[in-house]
Amino acid sequence: MALREIIILPDKQLRLVSNRIEKVTPEIRKLADDMFETMYDAPGIGLAAIQVAQPVRLITMDLAKKSENGETTPQPRVFINPEIISASEEKSVYEEGCLSIPEYYEEVERPAKVRVRFLDLDGKLHEEDAEGLYATCIQHEIDHLNGVLFIDYLSKLKRDRVNKKFSKAAKRAEE
Ligand code: NI
Repeated sequence: MALREIIILPDKQLRLVSNRIEKVTPEIRKLADDMFETMYDAPGIGLAAIQVAQPVRLITMDLAKKSENGETTPQPRVFINPEIISASEEKSVYEEGCLSIPEYYEEVERPAKVRVRFLDLDGKLHEEDAEGLYATCIQHEIDHLNGVLFIDYLSKLKRDRVNKKFSKAAKRAEE
């Protein structure tokens, strides 16, 4: 496994629409392994392949919570070509963040429940109902595969402010 570099706003690659994965090749398995290492290292709970500059429809996620004794049992999950096939009318609001927009958090409203269809690393098809943090996280990550960021749901004022902040930071880093 290897750590990969996470690309940061305003990197234009974040706006790419990622390609479907036709076959789970050894390269895709290696990418998933690297994404887990990168995600745990960050640390984060979800990562889309485009965030490590790979425009393919692959997501890693781990929503494991700390148990009472303070230990966490990892629950790594892989989603290939994930699709939302239905969404509830009911909405919920979560404070979201993104490894590609570090240290910025804002509340976003999304459907509270979704049904998601995806392939696993063995190419097996799954359909699952997601709610709570799982619903929010899978919607956020699938958005990445379509070049959409959570800041797109904010007011123009807030979005302009965060875009400006990260553009300035990128310029400073170049100097
Ligand atoms: Ni994100």
